[in-house]
Formats: sequence, structure tokens, C-alpha cells
Amino acid sequence: MRSHYCGLVDEKLLEQEVILCGWVHRRRDHGGVIFIDLRDREGLVQVVFHPENAELFAIADKLRNEFVIKVHGTVKLRPDGMINPKMFTGKIEVVAEKIDLLNQSKTPAIQIDDYQEVSEEVRLRYRYLDLRRPEMNARFRLRSDVMRRMHAYMCEQDFINIETPTLTKATPEGARDYLVPSRNHKGHFYALPQSPQLFKQLLMMSGMDRYYQIARCFRDEDLRADRQPEFTQLDVEMSFVEEDDVKNSMESLIRHLFSEILNVELPTFPQMTYQEAMTRFGSDKPDLRIKLELIDIADSVKDVEFKVFSEPANSDHGRVAVLRLPNGCELLSRKQLDDYAEYVKRYGAKGLAYIKVNDRGQGRDGLQSPILKFLTDEVLEAILQQVQAETGDILFFGAGDKKIVNDALGALRVKLGQDLNLIESGWQPLWVVDFPMFEYEHNRWNALHHPFTGPKIDSVDELTSNPGEALSKAYDMVLNGFEIGGGSIRIHRADIQQAVFMLLGISDEQAEEKFGFLLEALKYGCPPHGGFAFGLDRLVMLMCGTDSIRDVIAFPKTQSAMCPLTEAPSTVDVGQLLELAIKVNKE
Ligand code: AMO
Ligand code: AMP
Repeated sequence: MRSHYCGLVDEKLLEQEVILCGWVHRRRDHGGVIFIDLRDREGLVQVVFHPENAELFAIADKLRNEFVIKVHGTVKLRPDGMINPKMFTGKIEVVAEKIDLLNQSKTPAIQIDDYQEVSEEVRLRYRYLDLRRPEMNARFRLRSDVMRRMHAYMCEQDFINIETPTLTKATPEGARDYLVPSRNHKGHFYALPQSPQLFKQLLMMSGMDRYYQIARCFRDEDLRADRQPEFTQLDVEMSFVEEDDVKNSMESLIRHLFSEILNVELPTFPQMTYQEAMTRFGSDKPDLRIKLELIDIADSVKDVEFKVFSEPANSDHGRVAVLRLPNGCELLSRKQLDDYAEYVKRYGAKGLAYIKVNDRGQGRDGLQSPILKFLTDEVLEAILQQVQAETGDILFFGAGDKKIVNDALGALRVKLGQDLNLIESGWQPLWVVDFPMFEYEHNRWNALHHPFTGPKIDSVDELTSNPGEALSKAYDMVLNGFEIGGGSIRIHRADIQQAVFMLLGISDEQAEEKFGFLLEALKYGCPPHGGFAFGLDRLVMLMCGTDSIRDVIAFPKTQSAMCPLTEAPSTVDVGQLLELAIKVNKE
């Protein structure tokens, strides 16, 4: 139908005849000459209609934004002064000789020729219009490029691309399952995979040695800007490997992608233990571009009368920490301090005590704070020394349950970084390692990674006698404060797998029912193995410089897990429900 893409017509085609197809991006009437910016996926080109050809001109006159046309014309240099250096096609224009109107368009709900603030609801409802925007087009092309290069890289490294089932049995990754009712087996359900975890392990037991797949995963969990109910992983598994083999391989892949696609040479990935990340940053995915750090001050406040501090300072589950904001006195108003105190409440913090260091030289008199009255001169001095306070600083205090303090001060650190422009530019990747095997929550042990992750010790006795101390062979890749991937060396011995299930409160019967096939397979010569999965959407989001994965998923769901375009999820016919033997309880 066409000879060239609109966005690729340039001076090399001068005086040549071209046939272009696309959308009317913008129409301008300049004293009897009509200019159309014609758009296709490659960009814009200016098409000129002169009034001499009355029939042609009459059609051009009726064109509106987003009409679809086909134009025959000749490529000409633009007159002096009309050159647009910002456009690839800015030196030329196409003088139209013939036009076919291929389709009309209603006035679009989303303006495509100019930036306009529209709600996300509208963007998703009219996603096909939203995706016409050049910015969105560029994101999906980058995503496609990432996927293409991932395939190429993995093939180059001798990984075998294998598909695993989507209608399957529950694969636990810590979220709820999406269930699919079975018509043939009434009352039975498939689960959509939270990840291909169990199958990729079975593939190692099948001798495939190196597997990869770009796989869709499904998780029914609370949604956020970096979480969708269905998302894509680059999923990898390798046999006869240790942690470093997997990590090195995955780090090389990311380095390769950044270099090839963004022309960025990533710095070497430092390695940080989970413990250190939590202590210094209150997070297991620290954004190292922000230089603020948490400092423990429990030792200084163990004996104070202020119970808010002394109780957690004396408890194993407690933490008292300070986040020092250099120059805070100048940067923050009283109102902002109150707002931050409100902000940390959403992480469960009961308050946000602070001290303004107006003059470090003047002891207590140089300080300003609602908690001064609770602290003696000696305690104040000890705290100031410990955090190396200087004149002008604000010290924020978090006290209470360790997890709450970490979550609250960790989030405050990032928020201050964003609000006060304290985020360095560039890329700061790292590996977080030495995760605990389990965390104790609601009176039971939970797996920090997933229940198939191997412990560092391989004695069942040691593991079961002190689960709280056990570290796992898990590793997360973190980039600019986002967990872009994670993995582990797996358990390849049936006795250890059984012990882990037991610690997690999964009885032998439950284990048999849920994962009997895995436990059995472990008994037929399972090789040591381990792997990794990248969150592809998160990776592409970062590479595109946007802050929501919805910007890099063509048809994403809203925060409440629905699709405004198709209106999924929707009700179904009674007949369909009857066939599935399902009765809906509207309560
Ligand atoms: P994990 O659960 O850490 O590990 O997932 C791997 C990566 O997937 C991304 N991710 C998500 N992205 C978007 N929306 C979500 N809801 C979502 N959940 C996770 C994250 C995360 O780092 N089977 C293991 C991997 C392994 O052990 O090999 C797994 O799925 O970027
Ligand atoms: P109160 O005695 O509850 O009025 O608290 C005095 C100060 O301590 C206020 O500034 C509170 O915001 C702060 N505060 C209270 N609880 C905590 C906590 N758990 N961690 C940090 N600061 C707190």
C-alpha cells in the first residue's frame, strides 16, 4: 500500500515520488495552503496541499485529527526558514498529488498531537489511542528490543527455551492464586502460576541443564505502581551451579542490555548482606543514589525514662534509629515536619520525633525538639556524637518494632530523597545476599523467598533447632531502589525440603497434596541447581525512565485489578456457571 514510512522520509528521497499512509496528526491552514503532519509508527512528515488542485484541496480541507489517509506525493526541500531541525523529516515536505481517505475518526478522547493531562482511567479505557502517542510507541519498541536481546543472549549462552503450563497447580510465591474452574472435573480448579518455579526445577531434574523462558506470571495481591496481577519474567534455571555462577550470568545479561540498548556501562554490582541493607537503609532494596542512612542509637537510650525509646531499645524485636538530614533546618518547614510525621504512620509508626540542631556548639540550648524534655544532657550528647550531628541538621527518630521502624524510616529516607532532590543521577545496582531463610510473623515462620530456597547449612538438625538464625542461598538484584530480580540455589534433597515444609507449618499430608510430585522427583537423582527471575516489566520501566509498570504493559489493569477497556473481570452466563458447577454467592 505504501512506499515508505512517514517518519523515515528524508533528503535522500528529494524529487522522488512516495506513497505514504498514516494518521492526520495535525492540520494547519496557512493562507490557502494546507499542511498536514502525517504520522505513523516511525514519526511525522509534513504533507502540503496547494489550492491549484481544487479536488485534492477540497478533501484536505475536510481532514480532521486521526483521519486515516493515503497520499501520493513528491519529496521537496522545505523553503528557507521553514526547516525544523528537531524533526528527522524536518528538512523536507511531501507535496501531495493524490489522496485517498481510508477512514475517518471521531474526536479522540485523548489528544495525540499535544501533551494533555488525562486521567489514567481514560488512558486505559482508550488504550489504543494512548498507545498512538509517540512516547508510548517508543516504550513498547524498547520493551520489544529488550526481549529480543534477552532471547538472543540466552540462546548464545546455550540456555534452552522451554514453555511451562499456564493451567497448573498452585506455585506459591507469597500471593493469592488466580483459579480457573475445571469443567471436566467439577469442583476442581487449576491455578495460574505465580511463577514457573516448580516446573523449572523439574526441568533440571529432567536433565535440561540450562532453561529459560519469558513467562507470564499471575499473582492476586495488592497492586502498586510496580506490581500488576499479571506480569512477565525472564525466568532462568541452571544445574550444577553455585550462587556466584547464577549471579555472574545474570549480571552479565543486565550489563549487556544496558550497554546495547541505552549505551550505559553499569558500574560493578556491589554486594550487601540483607542485614546491612536493613540496618543502614531500612530496606532490602535500597536506593543507593540517596546518601542518607539510618543509625542505631539503642545503646544511648536504653536507660532513658522516655518509654517510647527505652522499651524498644531493650527488646530483641525493637529498634531505635536516627535518620540524619544534613541542612534539614533550612530545607524543611514546620508544616513539612508534620506532614512527614503523618506520612510514616502509613507504615505503622506511632510518631516521628525529631531534633533540630540549630547550633551544635551550644549543647541542649542549641537544640529544638518536642522530646528534649525526656532526655538528659548526657543522652543528648551521646546521640549527637553517634550520628555525627552538625549545625543545621534535623535528626528524625524511629522507635518501636524493628520491622515498623525499618519500613517507616526506610520509606521516609526515599521520600526525603524525592521531595528534596537528593537523588543522584545515574544507575546504582547492587546484589542483596544472605537473606534469612525465615521470618517470624503472626506466630509462625514464613519463607522470606519461597519454600524451595536452599539454606546455607545443609544439616536438617541445625536448621530445625534454630530456624531464626538460618541464612538462605537467595540473592536479589536491586537497581535504583527497585527489586528487578531475585533467585536462589534450591533445595535438591528431599530431607531438607521436608524439614523446610515442616518449619513453615506445612504438614506431611499438605506437602504431599500440594507438592507430592516435587518431593517424589527429588528422590530420582536431582542435581544441585539454582536460578533467577527478572521482573521484565520493572526492568523496562526503569530503562524507559518512567515510574509505573503500567506504562510499559500494553493493556494493564488498574489498581483494583480491572481493565477499563474490556471491562474484565465480568459476569458470565448462568449456563456457563452451571456447566462448571459453580454457584455465585453475591454476599
Ligand atoms: P520473585 O517472586 O522475587 O521470584 O519474582 C521475581 C521478580 O519478578 C518481579 N515481580 C513482579 N513484577 C510485577 N508485578 C508483580 N506483581 C511482581 N511480582 C514479582 C520482581 C521480582 O524481583 N520463582 C522466583 C524466582 C526464582 O527463585 O528463580 C520468583 O518468582 O521484579
Ligand atoms: P508523645 O509523648 O506521644 O507525644 O510523643 C512525643 C514525640 O515522640 C512526638 O514528636 C511523637 O511524634 C514522637 N513519637 C511517638 N512515638 C514515636 C515512635 N514510636 N517513634 C518515633 N517517634 C515517636
